[in-house]
Amino acid sequence: MTAPTDRPRRSALYMPASNAKAIAKARSLPCDVVIFDLEDAVAPEFKAEARAAAVAAVEEGGFGHREVVIRANGIDTEWGMDDLAAIASTGADAVLVPKVDSPADIARYEDALKSAHKDMQLWTMIETCASVGNLDAIAQCAHNSRLSLWIMGTNDLAKEMRAQLTPCRTPFLPFLSMAVAAARAHGVAILDGVCNEFRDLEAFEAEARQGLMFGFDGKSLIHPAQVEPCNTVFSPSEADLAWAHSVIDAFAQPENAGKGAIRVDGKMTELLHLEQAQRLVAVAGRIAAAA
Ligand code: COA
Ligand code: MG
Repeated sequence: MTAPTDRPRRSALYMPASNAKAIAKARSLPCDVVIFDLEDAVAPEFKAEARAAAVAAVEEGGFGHREVVIRANGIDTEWGMDDLAAIASTGADAVLVPKVDSPADIARYEDALKSAHKDMQLWTMIETCASVGNLDAIAQCAHNSRLSLWIMGTNDLAKEMRAQLTPCRTPFLPFLSMAVAAARAHGVAILDGVCNEFRDLEAFEAEARQGLMFGFDGKSLIHPAQVEPCNTVFSPSEADLAWAHSVIDAFAQPENAGKGAIRVDGKMTELLHLEQAQRLVAVAGRIAAAA
């Protein structure tokens, strides 16, 4: 079985759990992850209805290879504990929780999920200013809790920082790369934040490519039109795979046996590049297997 951190997560599509049409549509969209939102996308008067709809959708199933995730309201809100209790009773792959600041928050969510099935993962939003100094400590919790994935919440970060979410995302770049590094240090998977410009697919693609450059596993999305371009960006390209195979083949040549650094296509290529090449081929294989 594929380890939770190795599943393809190129595209994670949010939808308000109160939107029955969107949930129905998600069963046929080519996204790797569906996220039924109970938090920011649902108005207070519809919270209870959305919770019941998310639970019913998970129970009804029909999402195939897609990972199914429910985003709860924060544990200190008036809906948080009821959301967590309801989600814990389902077969969802993961619960996504907002505004995690510190390891103490992870401990509280872990406790609230005690009765959940043993494979239910805890995914958290990274979206508060308070989390910036605690990224490594939060990621470390993955070694002894359900924590397995982070999603950047760039809209909330912009709000808290009072920064502007421009297309180049300059104010967020240090935060994004620190989060990727902390996640990688502890085996936590990590997805980029959403692009609000859902009618401008050119802007979307540029932002998705920026996320790939940063090392994200995929991107969180808000509209079906973003799914296919996102999958393309986060799938190894033909050129990537051609490079990977040439590196793997070169290291397999008898004359290169025992060498740490060789020349491939006129470039210095080391054993660390061989590992990167093997990873790319494995990622492509997992994407093909999940399709
Ligand atoms: N997931 C699944 N289906 C979706 C969807 C989503 N996130 N967003 C839109 N759709 C569906 C619509 O239901 C509609 O279906 P139909 O053709 O069967 O009627 C179709 O896609 C086209 O929708 P469109 O008219 O282009 O969008 P809209 O103006 O109705 O909605 C948003 C725009 C942004 C409000 C909507 O896309 C949305 O709610 N996105 C998710 C928001 C969210 O979850 N935010 C929380 C995390 S940041
Ligand atoms: Mg948020």
